[in-house]
Amino acid sequence: MVKPKVVVWRPMYDQIGHQLFEEAGAELVVVDSTDAQAVMAELPDAKAIWVRTPERITADMMDAAPELVVISTSGFGTDNVDIPAATERGILVVNNLGFGRKPVSEHTIMLLLGVMNRLTWADGSTRDASGWAGRTNVSFRELEGSSVGIIGIGYIGAELARKLNVGFRCRVLGYDPYVNKRIPLTAGVQMIEHLDDLLKEVSVLCICAELTDETRNMISRRELALLPKGSVVVNTARGQILDLDALADGLASGHIFGAGIDTTYPEPLPSSHPLYEQDNVIFTPHTAGLTTETATDQTRFSVSQVMAVLDGGEPTFPVNPQAWDGKVSRQPK
Ligand SMILES: NC(=O)c1ccc[n+]([C@@H]2O[C@H](COP(=O)([O-])OP(=O)(O)OC[C@H]3O[C@@H](n4cnc5c(N)ncnc54)[C@H](O)[C@@H]3O)[C@@H](O)[C@H]2O)c1
Repeated sequence: MVKPKVVVWRPMYDQIGHQLFEEAGAELVVVDSTDAQAVMAELPDAKAIWVRTPERITADMMDAAPELVVISTSGFGTDNVDIPAATERGILVVNNLGFGRKPVSEHTIMLLLGVMNRLTWADGSTRDASGWAGRTNVSFRELEGSSVGIIGIGYIGAELARKLNVGFRCRVLGYDPYVNKRIPLTAGVQMIEHLDDLLKEVSVLCICAELTDETRNMISRRELALLPKGSVVVNTARGQILDLDALADGLASGHIFGAGIDTTYPEPLPSSHPLYEQDNVIFTPHTAGLTTETATDQTRFSVSQVMAVLDGGEPTFPVNPQAWDGKVSRQPK
């Protein structure tokens, strides 16, 4: 029997995935290059491609892959795949939902605590000893008891709410027009119908929504101005949801106390961006979901989902199930 060819574009987060693909009967090709041409050269006989953010799967690449059945993203985000192009060609796209719950909620709290306690300043000024003279002139803040607004009460937002409720006795408000009503009840979130009303009430804002046409640029100059003076903003979701020019201005004016930024648009953010001039910002390079534990769980799941699809099974998390509806469907029989 011919082994189905699986192309992995950039190594999987836990490379045990490469071994698992081979054990599951695939012919595996790992392309460890950002060059799309190098990947395209492998696509004419490929049945599946697994792609790691930020590499992009475009319509041209799909045209080079006449036998392609399934595209798997590395995590939850699917903004690096041309979904309409895949659907048009009958190619299924799958993602890996829910794996950010543990690491991204923890990372968000780490950023909150780091910003509120000015961790970057504290570290630098301990190393150069300037902190000893200056430490009583710097304001530090407590998370316990804060009013926290969370945009997007999904896997990550709900887990963050639980941790903030239980661990930090916060009052948690949520904005999410599409949430399943049971989730805020179990996570202890008071849902607010209008975003503006939430922004006026909280001193901490955490962005945990998915990127859609509605959430793109959702938090911009006007929304930041509605937050009370001295608020903290953390974005661990997607860069395009938060306007970083407006955030830099908010920090410069003192309206915003500090910010934690794991995701930017573009990634990386150009070194000339004014946000880098603000000192109470902690940046991380989109690493919130990359813990060792989650990398292993997610990789194992990802391999099993791709192989299930190639074996004619049902995907757990199809992104464009309609790809299998039409005449061009490439669903294995
Ligand atoms: N930084 C990282 O490493 C990392 C890792 C995993 C996930 N993420 C990102 O975190 C975010 C949340 O992931 P998740 O696993 O919780 O996904 P999820 O699908 O469980 O939750 C997303 C939530 O956003 C809500 N939403 C949709 N439109 C909205 C709108 N207009 N206003 C408010 N809320 C809206 C949805 O209803 C849903 O509840 C996503 O953007 C994802 O890409 C980041």
